[in-house]
Amino acid sequence: MAVAVHVGNRLEDELTAALSRAVAEERFEPPQLPHVAMEVLKVAQNAEASLRQIGAVLAKDQLLAARVLKAANSAIYPGPPVPHLTGAMMRIGLSGLKQLVYMYAFQGKVARRHEYQHVLERYWLESVASALAADGIARARGKDIQLPFLGALVHDIGRPIAITLLADLRKQNENFRKADEPTVLRLVELVHARLGGLVAARWKLPKELRDAIGYHHDALIFNGEGRDLMLTIAGADALIARLGLAGQPEQQFSGDAVRAFRELGVDRTHLEGIIRPVRERAEQLASLMN
Ligand SMILES: [Fe+2]
Repeated sequence: MAVAVHVGNRLEDELTAALSRAVAEERFEPPQLPHVAMEVLKVAQNAEASLRQIGAVLAKDQLLAARVLKAANSAIYPGPPVPHLTGAMMRIGLSGLKQLVYMYAFQGKVARRHEYQHVLERYWLESVASALAADGIARARGKDIQLPFLGALVHDIGRPIAITLLADLRKQNENFRKADEPTVLRLVELVHARLGGLVAARWKLPKELRDAIGYHHDALIFNGEGRDLMLTIAGADALIARLGLAGQPEQQFSGDAVRAFRELGVDRTHLEGIIRPVRERAEQLASLMN
């Protein structure tokens, strides 16, 4: 028994070293954000963007237009069937449309299909749930919702990239195939913030988003300009962990989460109001991109 534990640890150490080397040497294919996604992202980030401007960009991408139509006809936006893009956009509204565009820009573009498809799906659901929770926190505080939604949606972007890198390492090295899934998931948690930060820099994302991706696990000690966003994301993650949506049974708030909520001015009554829509909408919203 003692030998098996030793071998297991050594395998994990070797895999950790291989992964760390690949990240340090940036030996991973940087996922590409599609051109239209970048364009819509740019338009959506403009606070003055109108429905008409976003519509003009949407019209260039049939897949995205189809997804907007699907969203408008889903249970999220109740009403009679909407047959046209213009009607769909009107029903969803500017703010909801921007959020759909963000989801489209970042989902599915970051990882190829591989043995951990089921994990990718869970990561995506978590990201969407976190984005909804951040949206709820921002609304409760009377703040703009767009940056919190986008920041929470992308903050764990390093996870799908890390697990894809690990799937590649396992393909190349027979020994690594002996590592079980919990080991692989642990390694993802270990490197995802650093890896995500590197990719975010290559994508030239705005600094607040790059920081959110790279430093979200140090939210409480982060004192940069994006502290408010960072705390919002930490609070959102604590909320989805509380709901049992973070791949583990429901968890109590940690001391850090309580401190984050206190600094954000979010109290118990707010939290109850935030949790309900996250629980109700996360799966629906995540499935819109399928
Ligand atoms: Fe994370």
